[in-house]
Amino acid sequence: MDKPKDSYSQAFKQIAKIANSSLPLKKALNAMARSTAKALKAIGCSIMLLNPQKQYLEIIAAYGLSDLYLRKGAVNAHKSLPEILEGKAVALVDVSQDKQVQYPEAAEIEGISSILGAPLLQKGEVVGEIRVYTDGPRHFPQVEKDFLSTVANIVAITLEKNEFYQVLKAEHEETITKRRKLAETPKLPSSSLRPSRFGHPSEEEFARLLDFYRIEWLYEPRSFPLAWQGNKVSEMFTPDFYLPELDLYIELTTLKQSLITEKNRKVRRLKELYPEVNIKLLNKKDYLRLLAKYGYGPLGGTKVEGINRVLFSHTQIQRRTRALANHISRDYQGRRLVLVGILKGVVCFMADLMQHISLPLSIEFMAISYYGSNTEPAVKITKDLDTSITGLDVLMVEDIVDTGMTLNYILNHLSSHNPASLHVCTLLDKRARRLIDVPLDYIGFEIPDEFVVGYGLDYRGEYRNLPFIGALSPRLIEEEAGK
Ligand code: IMP
Ligand code: MG
Repeated sequence: MDKPKDSYSQAFKQIAKIANSSLPLKKALNAMARSTAKALKAIGCSIMLLNPQKQYLEIIAAYGLSDLYLRKGAVNAHKSLPEILEGKAVALVDVSQDKQVQYPEAAEIEGISSILGAPLLQKGEVVGEIRVYTDGPRHFPQVEKDFLSTVANIVAITLEKNEFYQVLKAEHEETITKRRKLAETPKLPSSSLRPSRFGHPSEEEFARLLDFYRIEWLYEPRSFPLAWQGNKVSEMFTPDFYLPELDLYIELTTLKQSLITEKNRKVRRLKELYPEVNIKLLNKKDYLRLLAKYGYGPLGGTKVEGINRVLFSHTQIQRRTRALANHISRDYQGRRLVLVGILKGVVCFMADLMQHISLPLSIEFMAISYYGSNTEPAVKITKDLDTSITGLDVLMVEDIVDTGMTLNYILNHLSSHNPASLHVCTLLDKRARRLIDVPLDYIGFEIPDEFVVGYGLDYRGEYRNLPFIGALSPRLIEEEAGK
């Protein structure tokens, strides 16, 4: 039998040769996956790239894995072996016992016991992953981790030098720009920018609507076997969309009755076979209603007229808020915090932020009113702190910092009470309009000079209950000002 060392040097020899060959990219990567699996005596190997939003992994090459396993569904890189994203090789010894495994049934059917993964790094940034799968439980020793990390480096170089990959990367970037542009256009534009991958114009229209609201979607990420002949799958069903934020598959349908009957049958069968899967068969009216249920879309009950575009979806806000809370928890470790917010705009942000701060803390609210003229505005405190902050660590929580006048006034007021420390966390920073330079320690998002509403922020008392942050049409503001 080969000594492991020999099998590694054999594998490196093969992999380096493949890397330097003129094989098409996919073939080359499949061959590398094969050599890697063989050298580690694994049953399979996959090579995956992060999607443009850096959230999901898409398989681009594999060895030893069934079609079924390859199409098991979107792998969320932040949930499945997330430490790989920090740049290191990570092992998962017992797949059946681990909560990180997203598709335990698929792994079981495939006979996978352990997984070892390593990041594909380009200029220090994780762009994808390589994973190997074993059929017996395995504690991967350091030499195996090192081996896989080295293969990952060769794969990353192979990708970098490959023209096709460069095109793919450019397309990715272009797709993001296009999608961003589409999302910024108030009216849903016509089909000129349709990605050819959509099977039907209605799918494209739906995707555009989701983009407008910045709801994440994946197109046909998973196929479900519905019928078998002996051991072979004889019928598969691939729903059109998966919306990870709602954990929901969506099959779109038009009003053509013949199609509806057939799709209904498939959806029913899918629900019988996979009761844990959420799937809905929707026509246009249905999906508008569904979006409305989550606070989005033209049929929603909340006021949305005048919203030009959505800047941040609910999910984006949640992710960013969690990250800020983690920073704060780390920076204030071992201390006790007082969060001070100014009513009313901060309510949503304060509520979400404090739930993710893992420190003992208390909260205080103040209220203010503005008086004076446009050229010489002044602020008056109408509700002050309930308890003393002297000698305490205070973190001022703001929804938005615009000119900085309000914050400046409040910070002066708070420091006159001699807190032990005083810092600022704001969700939004409209830096372009700053008149007074106030120090901001934690910033959620920087935004351009536009009036924004939603997630607590209002325009004349309205829009506070929108689950996202959107820009208000300047026309609406002018019209109202003219009234
Ligand atoms: P500043 O004193 O100019 O920094 O702004 C203070 C307050 O103006 C904020 O706390 C908000 O209440 C309000 N504000 C500023 N910009 C916006 C916006 O774009 N949408 C909603 N409220 C805003
Ligand atoms: Mg405010």
